[in-house]
Amino acid sequence: MRKNIVAGNWKMNMNLQETESLLGALKNTVKTDAGTTVIVTPPFTNLESAITSLKGSGIGVAAQNMHQNENGAFTGEISATMLKSVGVETVILGHSERRAYFGETDAKLAEKVNTALKHDMTVIFCFGEELEDRKSEKHFDIVEGQLKNGLFHISGDAWKNIVLAYEPVWAIGTGETASPEQAQEMHAFIRKTIATSFDDAIADNVSILYGGSVKPANAQEIFAKPDVDGGLIGGAALDAEGFAAIVSAF
Ligand code: PGA
Repeated sequence: MRKNIVAGNWKMNMNLQETESLLGALKNTVKTDAGTTVIVTPPFTNLESAITSLKGSGIGVAAQNMHQNENGAFTGEISATMLKSVGVETVILGHSERRAYFGETDAKLAEKVNTALKHDMTVIFCFGEELEDRKSEKHFDIVEGQLKNGLFHISGDAWKNIVLAYEPVWAIGTGETASPEQAQEMHAFIRKTIATSFDDAIADNVSILYGGSVKPANAQEIFAKPDVDGGLIGGAALDAEGFAAIVSAF
């Protein structure tokens, strides 16, 4: 079943003390009883304490990335079993910053997806076009390619563990948001692409989040669109009241 989801992508922000204080504020402000799934993604070092602190709060915890291998000589990396061992069941994969700064290709992401699914984790799979793609009207082709090359090898059954996050790169951290109409147009295209490659039920049931400069002031009109099932929130997720307002924007 399609769910409304608001996930905060904290990126490389918040040390342990700051994490504890933000989580304390979130527990007091975020409404978790309205049927919206709420997720935060503290950095790796703070995942375990976040899981403990949020127990019983209705707020879930996800990681921002993980390595595709099970273990071994990959200095500095974190595996699926490491995440699961501290209670993390959900991971963001394919964020545009990982693609741009850390060489994450569609092929590497396909491997990461496989590893996450093998460990029965939920994947928040991110993708989206750059400004020049949109200007040259290639945005639908780019998005279709990212989905087909990084994700569409999975089985129909695996879709129950997938959440999609469409994040046009030109809207991330720029203050420039896709208009609600642009978001809706792309989300409808994504659903149609899934229906064609898989089936209507899978396309209808997958949650598709929009990300890119979502704020309390614009969340409501974006979330009101029929194919937008929530948001992946960057900057605005670091402020408890703002994040709580976005969670309540459905
Ligand atoms: P932003 O980031 O909300 O700060 O634009 C979104 C994201 O990168 O997920």
